[in-house]
Amino acid sequence: MNPHPVAARRPLLAVAVSLALLFALASGSGRAQDRLPYRDADRPVPERVADLLGRMTLEEKVGQMTQIDLSRLMGTGEWDRGPLDEAWLEHVLGELQVGSLLSGGNAAPVPNDPAGWAAATEEAQRFALARSRLGIPLLYGVDAVHGHANVLGATVYPHNVGLAATFDPDLVRRIGRAVGEDVVATGVTWNFAPVADLGRDGRWGRFYETFGESPALAGALTAAYVEGQTGVPRLAVTLKHFIGYGQAPAGDDRAPADLSMRELRGTHLPPFVEGLRAGAQTIMINSGSVNGVPVHASRYLLTDLLRDELGFGGVALSDWADVRKLWSVHRVARDEAAAVAMAVNAGVDVVMVPHDAAGFTAALLQGVHDGAVPEARIDEAVGRVLALKFALGLFEEPFPGPGTATDVIEEDRFLARQAVLQSITLLENRGGALPLGDTRRLLVTGPGADDVALQMGGWTLGWQGVPPGGDTPPAVTVLQGLRDGAPEGVEVEGRPPGAADLFERAGAADAVVAVLGEPPYAETPGDSDDLRLPPAQEAWARELVAGLAGSDATLVLVLLAGRPIDLPPDLHAAAGAVVMAYLPGSEAGTALAEVLYGRASPSGRLPFTWPDGVGQLPLVGDAPLSEAVPEPRYELGHGLSYTRFSYAGASARRVDDEVLLQVTVANTGARAGDDVVLVWAEFPVLSILTPERRLVGFGRVTLAAGESRRVDIRIPLARLALVPGDVQAFGEAAVLMGDYRFRAGSESAEVFLPSCRVRDAQARCR
Ligand code: BGC
Ligand code: BGC
Repeated sequence: MNPHPVAARRPLLAVAVSLALLFALASGSGRAQDRLPYRDADRPVPERVADLLGRMTLEEKVGQMTQIDLSRLMGTGEWDRGPLDEAWLEHVLGELQVGSLLSGGNAAPVPNDPAGWAAATEEAQRFALARSRLGIPLLYGVDAVHGHANVLGATVYPHNVGLAATFDPDLVRRIGRAVGEDVVATGVTWNFAPVADLGRDGRWGRFYETFGESPALAGALTAAYVEGQTGVPRLAVTLKHFIGYGQAPAGDDRAPADLSMRELRGTHLPPFVEGLRAGAQTIMINSGSVNGVPVHASRYLLTDLLRDELGFGGVALSDWADVRKLWSVHRVARDEAAAVAMAVNAGVDVVMVPHDAAGFTAALLQGVHDGAVPEARIDEAVGRVLALKFALGLFEEPFPGPGTATDVIEEDRFLARQAVLQSITLLENRGGALPLGDTRRLLVTGPGADDVALQMGGWTLGWQGVPPGGDTPPAVTVLQGLRDGAPEGVEVEGRPPGAADLFERAGAADAVVAVLGEPPYAETPGDSDDLRLPPAQEAWARELVAGLAGSDATLVLVLLAGRPIDLPPDLHAAAGAVVMAYLPGSEAGTALAEVLYGRASPSGRLPFTWPDGVGQLPLVGDAPLSEAVPEPRYELGHGLSYTRFSYAGASARRVDDEVLLQVTVANTGARAGDDVVLVWAEFPVLSILTPERRLVGFGRVTLAAGESRRVDIRIPLARLALVPGDVQAFGEAAVLMGDYRFRAGSESAEVFLPSCRVRDAQARCR
């Protein structure tokens, strides 16, 4: 519906109503409202919820279940991103009493800077409060998935796949907190992060949004991020996308997944369980289907599993337009009203509509009037939304308060730098090509050498990444970083890939750093069939290699990529060193300079298995045992260092619901460095397939040359859980009795474990 036919009248009316209400709130009648039980912050939240629910009309309740994108409220409401429009505000927040907004990937306010965001969220909040009879504040959501990266000027962190390569939950916790502070400084109260889906097939366009393939690693980092972010007042976090979204068949986004319940519960569920335990208040639902049922319509997944079994009491949010798609795409519902009833009855509390507010609210109201949706279900959903708004303190403090958004979101570049530094993964280092020790003349080139968009990836200013031709977020490119960070006596030259004298200059250099990278992408448009770089880049890299033939220059390939890249064997073989930098964000150049010049030893480890060609996919490190296991190009956890580590004297024992593994790690090389200790479990003989080994624990240790230290790694028994039973296995995962071997490097130790039930990521053993 377009509210503009009445636009001449409505804005005036809206302004008059707003002013009257604001006046009322500031004077006598406002105080009467202040004394109502739901307004009393000293009362327990459930009491406040019950009181407020009792005062609301059905229309007001349905509004609280509706979420609309800011693009609808700007300009003409059709993605033109004009200033907030009074008539649209009145339609959505006034008439329809919508309870939450989001700025999706392409819906940053205008101007897109911290102050512009703060002004837009404040304007919307003021409008909503003035037009809500009961003074119910808005929730405002955003995808701050690698920093508050839709905002021009914000510090952009590595995408999650890069953070995962740090194997450092403390760092991720600090980043979660820093990003949370940025988000709330702009008046946003709901972050659609972290992604708790696993990345198990690099072809998937959302692979880089995940913490990689391992449930143990993804679970620990999801929990750390949630802890960091829930520590920020006024902010709700979201685990997404519940559940099975990481099972992308053939790497296709939102394709129907066939996923055994053994695999769903044993592999995909644990990161969500850990995120819930860490305090995530909301969950977003998987857009796709599992075993023939769209998840938005699955009562089993959204209620039996999520609520009854996992005990989740927070808000379940639909993903973008997915309720409507139950009829328009999946055809499990006859029309929109049936789709809405189906989703709400299955357990969806808030629907990210995200444009046709009137269509959605009418459909839900019709469902209630027809008896298709019980009112009790509406009260349950709305109760959860109100509980969240009370818990966040939004009734008391609907605005973020003083503090300039600009200052807050430009902080923390050092944290971003640290993250990139710890993530950089050295894949190959032939003949000690790195660090660039004796280099005097360095040439830096390649499509990613001086391109901010490539180092940022998707979800940066725009949904598909930095929009071409517009503003560029502040960042240090690889070229800039290598220039500014060059040691004395090193001369750095930059050349764009097309430079006429490129091959001549390259041949004259001691070393050439060629930065290749994926053009930015997000979601379905980012699905890849072949894991290859664009053909033009491959061709260019081949020309460079040919141009270097006969020269002494060392070739260092740096990859800016969100997934394992299938580098053609000739290119791979021609490089002295291959460095994976993931999608590093603002601080790519500073951190790469540290590693390439050797001031820091690389310490990132692959959070996924890197296949040797696309034909091996899907390929993960914890696949069930079989006769033919393909040899990957790089295993999960691969990553070289400039120094060497050796392990000695592992011991392991069970302590309550954990296994404590202790091992002594020595730095036997000539430089300081961080080692990431990875602990793998081997299972006893059981009546179901087990993986050859499963990553169950890890720890990061910093050692000076010659130093050694005992490292303690705690492995929650829940990480050993499997779903037992014959092929129809459906029950909860459990730890199964037997002798387990724990391996760290060359060392291993065995521990007998009894049978243990696993609930809330905690094991209870007999
Ligand atoms: C994505 C979500 C995102 C939402 C809002 C959807 O397309 O799947 O991850 O939170 O859009 O931008
Ligand atoms: C929005 C994203 C959303 C996507 C879904 C885009 O236009 O900006 O937030 O995830 O559509 O298709």
